[in-house]
Order: sequence, then structure tokens, then C-alpha cells
Amino acid sequence: MNTEITIIRPDDWHLHLRDGDMLAAVLPSTAKIYGRAIVMPNLIPPVTTVKLAEEYRKRIIDARPEGSDFKPLMTCYLTDTTSPEEIKAAYAVKAFHAVKLFPAGATTNSESGVTDIANVYPVLETMQEIGLPLSVHGEVVDPEVDIFDREAVFINRVLEPLRKDFPELKIVFEHLTSKEGVDYVFEQDKNMVATITPHHLYLTRNDLFSGGLNPYMYCLPIAKTFADRKAVRKAAVSGDERFFLGTDSAPHPARIKEKSKAAAGIFNAPTSIGYVTQFFEEMNALDKLEGFTSIYGARFYGFSPNSSTITLAKRDKPVEIDWQLKSGGDVVKIFKPGIPLYWELVD
Ligand code: NCD
Ligand code: ZN
Repeated sequence: MNTEITIIRPDDWHLHLRDGDMLAAVLPSTAKIYGRAIVMPNLIPPVTTVKLAEEYRKRIIDARPEGSDFKPLMTCYLTDTTSPEEIKAAYAVKAFHAVKLFPAGATTNSESGVTDIANVYPVLETMQEIGLPLSVHGEVVDPEVDIFDREAVFINRVLEPLRKDFPELKIVFEHLTSKEGVDYVFEQDKNMVATITPHHLYLTRNDLFSGGLNPYMYCLPIAKTFADRKAVRKAAVSGDERFFLGTDSAPHPARIKEKSKAAAGIFNAPTSIGYVTQFFEEMNALDKLEGFTSIYGARFYGFSPNSSTITLAKRDKPVEIDWQLKSGGDVVKIFKPGIPLYWELVD
């Protein structure tokens, strides 16, 4: 028996689209499912100005498949020298929908990120005043801190002082992975929200090592323990508006994943909504799916939900797809957890 579900078209509130051949290869997967996406600015060089964001936005629009009206929502890569005036001017023309804080060295292409949060206080002051959200990669970079504790330590060292100094600043705690992170967001007010990825709903750190070392399960923040995953899962199906979908789909060519010093990032766009739907079904929470994928994030960012819908169907047999895409001369592999996928987009 086939089961179908129709929901308001989702948005992706955390997405890496890259550029050039890679952009052309991966964008159709996202544009097929999502109405809008918050597009991460960690290109090389990073998207740090209105001009760069506008040029990048045009390249994304040009790469859209025929007939698609997918809308990229641009973000600004925060550096030690970002100017508050530029941010204010950008906000006036809606050039940026968020400013992204990458602690320098925390993840892929974060070398130009912030070295000390004190350096960006004038920008944060302006953002608080105008209501522009700060999107946060919430991990400390201190090599003395265990990689599995970096999110929890970030809360104490960076987030908590930041919340005290800027209580009205809108903050998105991106790709939440830890119980500490989930508990923290639950304790806060409406100015503090979080995105949750499809892969963190499924993975634990065991998946990184099961049967051998698995670079395709490697992303940052790194997947954590069963207890952490349980907390993240609970938050996703809670129906609490502060938790919503951001896929963190982050494609890398296979040659960059299948090597020593493999890059962090999981490319999940093609099957993201299928796995999320499957997860909500497993949790008996399909009634909460639409809020998580299509309503809460839009509300936080000041948009109405999309006016179209999508329909997903549950198949009797696992969905069979080619688990890779071609990008120029490269191959990009699609996130494939150990669980077969039964849900797919049909309309
Ligand atoms: C992202 C990427 O590859 O750009 N990688 C990742 O592991 N999530 C960057 C990021 O969001 O941390
Ligand atoms: Zn990301």
C-alpha cells in the first residue's frame, strides 16, 4: 500500500550551494524540493560584501533549472573587519537575510572567520538594532577541547556571554548536534532558534567508524552520542517553533572526501526531505512535519510560508536512485545512512 502526504513546500534554512560546476550540479536537487534557502557564504573567497552576494545570487538564479522559481536568500560571511555601515546598508535593501559567524578554523572554508568575538561587537550591536539574525557555527576551535565537546563548550564560552550582552539579537544556532545545545535552546526565548539537519537525525558517532572509517558520515559539527541524537530528535518533533529544518547539505567531490584529511560536509539535498519525512513517520509525528520543514523557519526569518505544496509517497520497497551526481569531471556522492529510504517526492 502506498501512503502519501502533502505539505506546504519546505524551505532549507542552511544550505551550501558552492559555485561553478558544483553549483550547476547540485542546485536542481534543492530547487525541486525547496521554495527558498538560506545560502551559506563560505566560498573562496568568502561572500563578505553586498556586491559579492548580489553577484553570487545572480549566478544561482542563472543556474536554476528551467521554470524553477527557487529563491536564494543570501548571507554575509562575518570577518574581524566587517563594517556595521555595510551591514546596515545591506539590510535596507534586503541583500542579506543573515550574517554568518564561522569561528576561524572551525570548519570548511572558515579561515577568514572571526578570531575573537569581541572584534565583531560593533556589527552585532547594529544587527541587534535592525533585527538581522546572526547565524552561528557553534563550535569552539580550541585544539585542547575534545571534538565531541566543542558545541557544549561554545555555549559556555561564547554563546552565553553573547546572549547577556545582546539579549535582543536574533541568533540561529545552526546544525544542532548535542543534548547540551538542545537543552540550552529550550531554556532561551524567541530570539534563540536552531536548525536541525537530516543527517544529525540519523547519525551517531558510531556511523563514522562502523566497518571502517567513513568520510561520508563526516561533517562538522561531528555526529555525537546516542543520548545527543535522542535530544536532537526530540527537539525536531517537539512542535516547538524554535527548531526547524536546515539541511546543511554541503557537497564535496569524491576525490576530496576519499583521501586523508577528508573534507567535512555531507551532501544530502536529493534525499533530504525523504529521510526527514521517514524520520517523522518513525516517531509517529507526521502531524509535526510541516511546521518543522515549512512554517517555523519562514516565520523566524519574516516570510509567509510558500504558497505551493509538495507531495511525498511511501513506497513498499526501498527507493532506488543513483546515489551520486556528476559535477564537471567529478562525482559527488549523496548521503546514504545505513537505513533504506522509503519516502520520495512525487509532486
Ligand atoms: C560545511 C561545508 O562543507 O561548507 N561542512 C560541514 O561539515 N557542515 C561547513 C559547515 O557548515 O560547517
Ligand atoms: Zn553548513
